[in-house]
Amino acid sequence: MPMDQRNTAIVAAQKSSPSTSNSSKQSQSKLSSQPHNVLVVLNGKGGVGKTTTAVNLAETLAENHRVLLVDADPQGSATWWMERSDKSVGFDLVRETNPTLLSDLRKIENYDVVVVDTPPALDSDALAAVVPAADYVVLPTPLRRWISRTD
Ligand SMILES: Nc1ncnc2c1ncn2[C@@H]1O[C@H](COP(=O)(O)OP(=O)(O)OP(=O)(O)O)[C@@H](O)[C@H]1O
Ligand SMILES: [Mg+2]
Repeated sequence: MPMDQRNTAIVAAQKSSPSTSNSSKQSQSKLSSQPHNVLVVLNGKGGVGKTTTAVNLAETLAENHRVLLVDADPQGSATWWMERSDKSVGFDLVRETNPTLLSDLRKIENYDVVVVDTPPALDSDALAAVVPAADYVVLPTPLRRWISRTD
């Protein structure tokens, strides 16, 4: 994608894709009069359930709030799953891995909650860009690793 189009990716998403269900949530949301909340799902380890958590959080929060899910993982797993899902969802999705644009997450309008799925790398530029913008950090950790410990 040309750079000038990439730079407008998040803005384009908020202008064009807030779903019908999102617009109808405006009056229900307790958060609508406040700046939106940013929830970043992260863990330096791979395969611990970040994408699963981010997608399910987005769908659950979308029951009462206008939600944007940002797929900041170059693997694009959330986007891959959403594109292949035959179910309609109550939130909007945008794929964005550019650190400069990700650092502007707080400037996004028309949403109550922005959920961010991140790559499994603590040294990722995308992660470094979104963490300072976070109101909440969600760290999925498989319980079985603790249960199976014998020491
Ligand atoms: N709570 C859970 N219980 C059981 N299996 C789960 C749970 N959450 C995720 N999984 C499974 O674990 C696998 C990895 O999940 P997921 O892709 O969400 O991890 P991830 O941390 O996003 O991975 P990556 O680091 O590659 O982005 C998937 O097969 C998913 O179905
Ligand atoms: Mg993932």
